[in-house]
Formats: sequence, structure tokens, C-alpha cells
Amino acid sequence: MGERFKNKIVVIVGGNSGIGLAAAKGFAAEGAQLVLTGRNAQTLKEAAAATGPTTVTAVCDIADLKQIDALMAKVKDQHGRIDVLFVNAGVGAFIPVEAVTEADWDEVQNVNLKGVFFTVQKALPLLHSGATIILTGSIGALKGLPTNSVYAASKAGLRALGRNFAAEFVGRGIRVNVISPGPIDTEIINRTKGLPPEAVPGMRSEIISHCPMGRMGRADELTGAVLYLASSESSYVTGVDLLVDGGAASF
Ligand SMILES: NC(=O)c1ccc[n+]([C@@H]2O[C@H](COP(=O)([O-])OP(=O)(O)OC[C@H]3O[C@@H](n4cnc5c(N)ncnc54)[C@H](OP(=O)(O)O)[C@@H]3O)[C@@H](O)[C@H]2O)c1
Repeated sequence: MGERFKNKIVVIVGGNSGIGLAAAKGFAAEGAQLVLTGRNAQTLKEAAAATGPTTVTAVCDIADLKQIDALMAKVKDQHGRIDVLFVNAGVGAFIPVEAVTEADWDEVQNVNLKGVFFTVQKALPLLHSGATIILTGSIGALKGLPTNSVYAASKAGLRALGRNFAAEFVGRGIRVNVISPGPIDTEIINRTKGLPPEAVPGMRSEIISHCPMGRMGRADELTGAVLYLASSESSYVTGVDLLVDGGAASF
């Protein structure tokens, strides 16, 4: 147990699974007071139990702007401010171009891009000088991959949001950075649009064959990078895209 985030209010949007849950445990071990959100009330309850008695949870679908308003009202009520905003929620899609429907396109962009934008916009009144924002991107924004265009477009847009938020908020003392995972072994592969359950093992093997380290990453292998970007250890870092990908985007 450490105290790097003692008395800090850390809001993790998408904090009940995978990368977000691993980060929540990392922040909790460093004394943070957490607000964890997601859509699934049961896994939120489990995430609260795993991170300690001060954790607050809120069901919030970021594709629905009214739910983001309700979330921020709850955070304001409970804590009055946010010190670290980790906007990690995202959905995957592996769909060939010909098969993409307008509904597929909208569903992915509404969460990964529009939802991220409005989460940050609506959190702004609670953010102050010294606060930090971290967005979860993907190396999909950098690499071409068959069937990944809808998801990749959303994450490339998110990367642009990170850079532009950083420029717009630097004068207010708010740093904004993106963390871009490579292939990480989480539930996302089991809920990726366009990937039926019987195709998951083959897709995992295919992904691993492209991993320079010969394996997928673990969710907790992102935690150190998230905590670094959230802390004063990165006080002169803003607007970056920190790749945590086992080399996948580089060679
Ligand atoms: N795993 C990878 O290989 C990989 C690679 C690159 C980037 N990423 C990115 O990393 C982030 C975390 O993914 P993960 O791998 O940890 O997957 P995960 O275990 O499926 O977690 C996804 C998280 O996003 C939340 N979420 C999804 N849609 C939401 C919505 N509409 N509103 C609010 N929350 C929503 C989920 O909450 P519920 O469970 O309650 O729905 C969950 O907390 C995502 O942005 C993903 O795109 C992952």
C-alpha cells in the first residue's frame, strides 16, 4: 500500500472490467477515493468490493448524454471535484467493410468517440488546475488491420481529441494524455461486434501471431502507465499517446 493518490478523487469511466478495473485496483492501493462507472451494475458492485469501502459506483452508459449528466451530478454531490478522470470505456468491432451497417457505425462512434468527448465536456466544471485526464485509445489508430476500420476510426478520432483537449486546457493547468494498449487479454474480445463466440479462439491465435512478445498483455500491465500519467511524476507530459503494446505498433 502506498499513498501516491491519498485524498485524490479518481473517476474511472469503464472501471468495472479489464484495463479499467486493473487501474482501479492500482489507484486504490495508492490511497485514491474512487468513482467507478460502467453499464453493468453487478460487475460494478464486485469492483467496489475489490477496491475498498470508500469506492462509489454509478451505472452510466456514455452513449446517453443524460446519463453522463447524472454521473457528473453524483460526483459533484459526493466529492465536489475530480482530480483524475480516466475515460477508459470502449467497445470493439471486427466487421468487414461491406457488412458494416449504419447502426454498427453509430454504436461504436457513440461510445468510443462521442461518449468520450461529452464525458470530458461534462466533467470540466469539476476539473481544476492540477487535474489530469487520461483517455484510452488503441494501437488500432496507428495500424491497418482487416475488419477493424470502424473501431480504428473511433480510436484515431479519440487520439485527436486527446491532443486538442491538451491544447485547449493547458492554460487551465489540466493535462490530457492518451494511453494506447496493444492486444490485452480482457473480456473485450468476447463482446466484440462482428466476432461470434466460435471465431474468438482463431482470432486470439491470429492476434498472438502478430505480437512481438509472443503473447497478449495482461490488463494490469497498463496500470503503471495509467498511474504515471495520472500523477505528478508526469507533470511536464501532456498531449502524448503512450503506447503499451509489447512493441506491436513498432515492429
Ligand atoms: N483489450 C484490448 O486488446 C484493447 C486494445 C486496445 C484498446 N483497448 C481499449 O481499452 C479500453 C478498455 O477495454 P478492455 O480491454 O478492458 O475491455 P472490457 O473488459 O470489455 O472493458 C470495457 C469497459 O468499457 C465499459 N463500457 C463499454 N461500453 C460502455 C458504455 N456505452 N458506457 C459506459 N461504459 C462502457 C465497460 O463497462 P460494462 O462492462 O459495464 O459494459 C467496461 O468497463 C477500451 O476503450 C478498449 O477499446 C483494449
